[in-house]
Amino acid sequence: MFNNTQVQTLNPPQRLLMGPGPINADPRVLRAMSAQLIGQYDPVMTGFMNETMARYREIFKTKNEWTMLIDGTSRAGIEAVLCSILRPGDKVLVPIMGRFGHLLAEIAERVGAKVHTIEVPWGEVFTPEQIEKAIVDVKPHVLAMVQGDTSTTMNQPLEHIGDICQKHDVLFYCDATASIVGNELPADEWKLDALSVGLQKCLGGPSGSAPLTLSDKCADWIQKRKKVEAGIRTAEHTDGTEPFVRSNYFDLGMIMNYWGEERLNHHTEATSMLYCASECARIVIEEGVDNCVARHKLHGDAMLTGIQALGLNVFGDLTHKMNNVLGVYIPEGINADHVRGQMLTDFGIEIGTSFGPLHGKIWRIGTMGYNARKDAVLQTLASLDACLHANGYKGPKGEAAIAALAHYK
Ligand SMILES: Cc1ncc(COP(=O)(O)O)c(C=O)c1O
Repeated sequence: MFNNTQVQTLNPPQRLLMGPGPINADPRVLRAMSAQLIGQYDPVMTGFMNETMARYREIFKTKNEWTMLIDGTSRAGIEAVLCSILRPGDKVLVPIMGRFGHLLAEIAERVGAKVHTIEVPWGEVFTPEQIEKAIVDVKPHVLAMVQGDTSTTMNQPLEHIGDICQKHDVLFYCDATASIVGNELPADEWKLDALSVGLQKCLGGPSGSAPLTLSDKCADWIQKRKKVEAGIRTAEHTDGTEPFVRSNYFDLGMIMNYWGEERLNHHTEATSMLYCASECARIVIEEGVDNCVARHKLHGDAMLTGIQALGLNVFGDLTHKMNNVLGVYIPEGINADHVRGQMLTDFGIEIGTSFGPLHGKIWRIGTMGYNARKDAVLQTLASLDACLHANGYKGPKGEAAIAALAHYK
């Protein structure tokens, strides 16, 4: 017998997600996700896979052949790259400027690499000189960095890092989950060897697929660690000369054979997520990658203008702020949980809390993907204004949305 709870239809409330991600998915992405499944080796499906590879080459501004999806959330992409390029005992340098640098270090440590870190205080970024000095000191096999760290809202400049890595023969990996298409990142021009992202921020999709790209140099290195599992292995498959990758699921060597001409039967593709990832890319390409970055800057700046007009202080080095997230100091004497709670229950708008040293000190407000829009910015500002004043705030009243409107003019 079913009880009432078991037979109820899933019916989530209407929310406007204005935190650091996830955000509301673009309705076109949701429609693509609901398309019917087809067989994994149906030529239509392999055609979709090739099309998805081509679309993400445009998103990443790369010619890399090996541009594909990892089935899983963004950290699946991070783990696939790090476990495929780092042998146990290899040295990796991880510059940490927030929570997600710690995540890269943690994943690299679990892979068995020797992890070296350098840190700047949360709210700052590294200079190329700091990175080069650490590379000279550590002599790592890999440099692993985050571009946009949502925990601090900072966007690490990367344009000179690839040259430094090439000069010292270091593989350059970047996690751009939170920054891709909201901030500039031309993978080839900036000489990245590996780049992985997620859908749930500026790409306007749900989490669950991690697009990534590998330079030829990086792909060649991974091929040296090749091992094809028994059961699908044929006489043509030979092992690489380097120790094999310790994960089966995340072995990029086998995943390349799956996405490439061989179509090796590795995992069963998460077809609905592929539809979704492909549609996210199509929508951005239709808009233009550079236009998409410019839209994130426009709405991010409008949010900043409104927040400042509300008399609130913003967190971190503004010259290096990501276009798509803003850290806002919680005003003294204000119950932060009441304000956030009221925004959610009375206005249906979600803004974010924060982690680590910033916990309880700042809110994080996102303007990204489908929600990098004028109406979403104005609604968020007007409701934050109302909720702050309903909770005893004494700063300027009624000016936030007006200031943002003026910014748009
Ligand atoms: C920069 C960065 N890296 C990695 C992640 C982890 O992503 P996921 O939760 O999709 O695994 C996030 C999530 O917010 C992120 O912002």
